[in-house]
Amino acid sequence: MADKDTISFDVQSSTGDVQRLELPDNINLSLMEVLKASEYPIPATCGGMALCATCHVEILKGVENLSTPSDTELDMIDTLPNAAANSRLACQIRLDHRLDDAVILLKG
Ligand code: FES
Repeated sequence: MADKDTISFDVQSSTGDVQRLELPDNINLSLMEVLKASEYPIPATCGGMALCATCHVEILKGVENLSTPSDTELDMIDTLPNAAANSRLACQIRLDHRLDDAVILLKG
């Protein structure tokens, strides 16, 4: 189990590489911002407004712990040809302990 001052989860790239990210729990960022800062190639052209879907991820593990997506997020995910049941927009997920031990697949 993760230390309580850090949030840790696994990120799987489209090439199948898995990296464990471990972050302090006092930074106020979205998952999209964390992934960009970790040098994943996420354009995030809308800047986190749930409009571009370039931050599309699939939550392979732990989706039940996350906040429910907004209608705006769900509407955008509906337009994606590769959407899955556990698809989310990373810009709409806050970095907090609900992400502990999640597995996130990059789809964007
Ligand atoms: S950054 Fe554009 S939808 Fe998330």
